[in-house]
Amino acid sequence: MLKVAVIGAGTMGSVHATAYSKMSSAELVGIVDPRREHTAKLASSLGTKSYDTLENLLEANDPDVVDVCVPTYLHRTYVERLARLKKHVICEKPISRTLEDARAMIDTCNKEGVDLYIAQVVRFFPEYKRAHDLLLDGAVGETGTVYAMRGGVFPQGWQDWYANFDRCGTLIVDMMIHDFDFLRWCYGDIERVFAKSMWGRDFQRLDHAMVSLRFKSGVIALCEGTWAHTDGFRTRLEISGKEGIISHDSEEAVAIRSSFRTRSSEAAGVAVPESPLNHDPYYLELEHFIDCIEHGKPPIVSAEDGYQALEISLAALESIQTGKPVEW
Ligand SMILES: NC(=O)c1ccc[n+]([C@@H]2O[C@H](COP(=O)([O-])OP(=O)(O)OC[C@H]3O[C@@H](n4cnc5c(N)ncnc54)[C@H](O)[C@@H]3O)[C@@H](O)[C@H]2O)c1
Repeated sequence: MLKVAVIGAGTMGSVHATAYSKMSSAELVGIVDPRREHTAKLASSLGTKSYDTLENLLEANDPDVVDVCVPTYLHRTYVERLARLKKHVICEKPISRTLEDARAMIDTCNKEGVDLYIAQVVRFFPEYKRAHDLLLDGAVGETGTVYAMRGGVFPQGWQDWYANFDRCGTLIVDMMIHDFDFLRWCYGDIERVFAKSMWGRDFQRLDHAMVSLRFKSGVIALCEGTWAHTDGFRTRLEISGKEGIISHDSEEAVAIRSSFRTRSSEAAGVAVPESPLNHDPYYLELEHFIDCIEHGKPPIVSAEDGYQALEISLAALESIQTGKPVEW
């Protein structure tokens, strides 16, 4: 059984820590976050310990794996530090805010001989995995076009980092990267990106973007991302091929709906899709990474995939800023 620690006790740190606490192949040995009271409460609810610094955790414990769930702009510092401490690292997506950081993280982990996994979780959502498998089986023949939509309410994070361009990179780097990664998994390399968004306009904690991708295979995809809804979270996918259509709409498969008049201060700052399944996609993803570390298996999504997905996101941002397409 591998010993795992989680850094960051926000929305995703809570989701990841909860997953490890249920896993027979992992022991959750601690959660690190300077927000002491909040983290102590989370740790105690999961039967583990909280620490305000990584040093304090390492004095008390020697994890084999550390899972980094801090805001994106802090990923590199922790990942490189952990690699030098010879810890395998699981890191939330996007791999980092810049390509320079991402390359340094991959290189350092390679140099130190530790594994690096980037949590591009959409490959573990059953509906997306099924669509991917159907495509590979040739169920709809050659794909012509794809529409992929994702979004909901504007996320809330520690120190409002989601609203900070340099820390987060807008919904294009933070959220649409999920669809970019999924589409790369299905169709391979892209050759052109063109995008429009609300960037540069009166921001008002709203964001919306349209990104078109042309793949080397000729497939055209239109991705729509939004942080402009008043509540909730929705995903849609429509793949049109010569022999048929594959479609998904998360609104059609909601097992339980709830709407509360008052919002709890403990509620997650980011709408994380709920799953009626015994094990949600986050659990499946993390269990897979633990299995890869324990048995030396190749992961379904590699750190290099994380890098490539970020490259598409940053190309879309560049297109928005210049008003021109970006070609490879
Ligand atoms: N896969 C997904 O579906 C998904 C969803 C949401 C967020 N994310 C990603 O997860 C990461 C975290 O996002 P979040 O929504 O959980 O953020 P958040 O703001 O909810 O939580 C961040 C936590 O990090 C802590 N923190 C800040 N500085 C720290 C430091 N130096 N050391 C330790 N802890 C520190 C904060 O106290 C806070 O608890 C981001 O990279 C984000 O893009 C992924």
